[in-house]
Amino acid sequence: MTARTYRIAVIPGDGTGPEVIREGRKVLEVVAGQSGFSLAWQEYDLGGERFLKTGEALPPSVLQELRGVDAIYLGAIGHPGVKPGILEQGILLKLRFELDQYINLRPVKLYPGVWTPLRDKGPEQIDFVVVRENTEGLYAGVGGFLRKGTSQEVALQTSVNTRHGVERCIQFAFDYTRRRAKANKLTLCGKTNVLTFAHDLWQRVFDDVAKNYADIHTDYTHVDACCMWMVKNPEWFDVIVTDNMFGDIITDLGAMIQGGMGIAAGGNLNPEGVSMFEPIGGSAPKYTGQNVINPLAAICAGGLLLECIGQPEPARRVEQAVMQVTQQLKSLAAGKMGYSTSEVGDLVVKALNGSE
Ligand code: IPM
Ligand code: MG
Repeated sequence: MTARTYRIAVIPGDGTGPEVIREGRKVLEVVAGQSGFSLAWQEYDLGGERFLKTGEALPPSVLQELRGVDAIYLGAIGHPGVKPGILEQGILLKLRFELDQYINLRPVKLYPGVWTPLRDKGPEQIDFVVVRENTEGLYAGVGGFLRKGTSQEVALQTSVNTRHGVERCIQFAFDYTRRRAKANKLTLCGKTNVLTFAHDLWQRVFDDVAKNYADIHTDYTHVDACCMWMVKNPEWFDVIVTDNMFGDIITDLGAMIQGGMGIAAGGNLNPEGVSMFEPIGGSAPKYTGQNVINPLAAICAGGLLLECIGQPEPARRVEQAVMQVTQQLKSLAAGKMGYSTSEVGDLVVKALNGSE
């Protein structure tokens, strides 16, 4: 039998993106070798540099090629020389929308040995997943200006919530909660007391879909209270499902309680199509090229990628290896790890080889 080969598009991107992606690839190559499958990498130079040179963020021909791969592995998008929003909208959001990656999956898990700002909490208490809707809401780009630049200016930004979009997200969240089989609890995070149209729809769809999942406990929290509970009682959460904007906000809070941007990873999923995996920390221009940035978030994103392409056991081994390494680092913060970026990648490889 010939070994299965997966085609992975790599977008190292801007800033420290290429440094962390290099370590992620190193780790994925090792685990692929151990598990008897192979990865065919196709690299794309999307990002700020290319945009400044050519004026193109995401050429149609590249988008077309990306539609045909098994998964996308993304470093970071964001360049100090490009006005904020251009690259985010032109590359990251464009890929999410064009490839219909309607789920943003963000595990919030405190690994052993990692410092959290929550004084009385440990790995036992911080282990939940946020399922964020990823193609609608305030991100849909619906709105506009009236009388722009005058004292009577009006700016509208509309939250788009379709039954189809809300339903597939909530459906995914219920399935995911069942598959995760941890506490079998799904919490809807919204703002039904104020967003009486949009989140009324979310609540009704949630209640409808719940009828098919008698084994899953359901709960509801307003987003402001959610932030409070994530800090005070994170152990209450198993899976949280929420809209695009609220998901964006609470996942940065989640990243902080799990030890910071050095470890936080996410997946932009199209369960029926091409998904994209990224460390969520951004391009960190001030650390670029210094070999000090933490690659564990990118490595964890690689783990999520493996799970998504149908290699759950290798994905689990990557996570186990990361959990060994977090106990060896002085801190997860850039420049304070006690090791360089590439040394941290090597430690993960060593842990993988030790566990064979
Ligand atoms: C994220 C990021 C993006 C978002 C930005 C970079 C557009 O914050 O992935 O959470 O808002 O979705
Ligand atoms: Mg964000």
